[in-house]
Amino acid sequence: MIELKREACLIDGEWVSSHEWIEVDDPATGTVIGRVPKLGAVETDRAIKAAERARGGWAARSAKDRAGVLRSFFTLVLDHREQLAALLAQEQGKPRSEARDEITYAAAFIEWFAEEAKRVYGELLAGPTADKRIMVLKQPVGVVAAITPWNFPAAMVTRKIAPALAAGCGVVLKPAEQTPFTALALGALAQAAGLPDGLLNIVTGDAAEIGQRLTASPEVRKLSFTGSTAVGSLLYAQCAPTVKKLSLELGGNAPFILFDDADIDAAVEGAMQSKFRNAGQTCVCTNRFYVQRGVHDQFVEQLVSATKKLNVGAHSNPQSDIGPLIDGAAVDKVLSHIGDAVRRGAKIATGGGKAPAGERFVSPTILTGVTSEMAVMREETFGPVAAVMAFEDEAEAIALANASDAGLAAYVYTRDMSRAWRLIEAVESGMIGLNTGLISSELAPFGGIKASGLGREGARQGIEEYLETKYACIAI
Ligand code: SIN
Repeated sequence: MIELKREACLIDGEWVSSHEWIEVDDPATGTVIGRVPKLGAVETDRAIKAAERARGGWAARSAKDRAGVLRSFFTLVLDHREQLAALLAQEQGKPRSEARDEITYAAAFIEWFAEEAKRVYGELLAGPTADKRIMVLKQPVGVVAAITPWNFPAAMVTRKIAPALAAGCGVVLKPAEQTPFTALALGALAQAAGLPDGLLNIVTGDAAEIGQRLTASPEVRKLSFTGSTAVGSLLYAQCAPTVKKLSLELGGNAPFILFDDADIDAAVEGAMQSKFRNAGQTCVCTNRFYVQRGVHDQFVEQLVSATKKLNVGAHSNPQSDIGPLIDGAAVDKVLSHIGDAVRRGAKIATGGGKAPAGERFVSPTILTGVTSEMAVMREETFGPVAAVMAFEDEAEAIALANASDAGLAAYVYTRDMSRAWRLIEAVESGMIGLNTGLISSELAPFGGIKASGLGREGARQGIEEYLETKYACIAI
């Protein structure tokens, strides 16, 4: 029996306690569900040293051997899916069914990268002269710092640590302080799967102090961060003096473009999925709906009717579709976006304020008659608010979609294949869902362009982020 709920950090294979603590609450009720150590610079340095010591022996093992340990980790995660989902739902707030889906999604990254560990290929190239050959090889980057967000407490962890471990790196993970228990539980399962001591270290505590230490350390050769653009650019700057390799998965402001010729029922289904997953708290959630004039009213009517059917409630209620937001600040931001839109002339088609389920619950909201000046269209709302604006033609839709610093995800609904190709090529984003509202998968290279970040996670590209390229010029 593996103990999953740990009120301790994992450093060099030991579970470490503290005399200072961070309390973790259930966003549905505000009740404290436990505490984790408030660690800082000293423990972060210990974790970095442990990862540096452990990584050489791990990288020297065969890829097949590393893949085997990751495969056992994958199996253990799936074996504990129910317990992990319960822990995740309690600290994050999402409905239990969504938490279960997230564990499956998280496990899929471990499985995928266990397989990819065996597929790290080099190259043999012609040399610059007849007597030379060039051999290109891939090597693990070294110690990796992973800083993960609260919205996907399991999947964002495995999407980083699985490729890092598969590539032969050591890891120091700093999970979000709102949702550390899922990460610590994954640490316990990785340990049980046979991961060597020191290879995966998990440090909870003061985000600024730990982040500063991780970014300043010359031993940390790679930082992978998922979170806001503001924190991402700060970490980017902090990594500059030691010239680290970086993956930054930052904020989005996803447009959803619906053309007159599309299948409207399918578009409503995709809109519901892309808007309300995790109560609107995903970086790839639709933030801006652009609907061609001819189908605007029909789409809004169907979207409102589907939205009214959503049950808002705690994870403890199996009927819940929409959980709470993570904290009071998130609620304030969402309400301020609704208020700003209404003050500037938008209409509330449904919702519009707090839901009766509790302090951190917001009713799924549809706003119509929005304009590009409104905060709800300019900034990532990160909540259950759908803002809908009408457009006239394709050129206008593309211009509206691209009028943002963010470039993470976009969704396009059309049945015209020529238009589909044009949109796929013209819309400035790292990912596009064509006639689908669900794009996330371990099989796809997840990531953004512009201010939405650098690098890709998942797919064949995901492991490359943890590898360096070296070449040898060989005289024969
Ligand atoms: C995110 O919100 O950062 C990740 C969402 C996903 O993987 O689908």
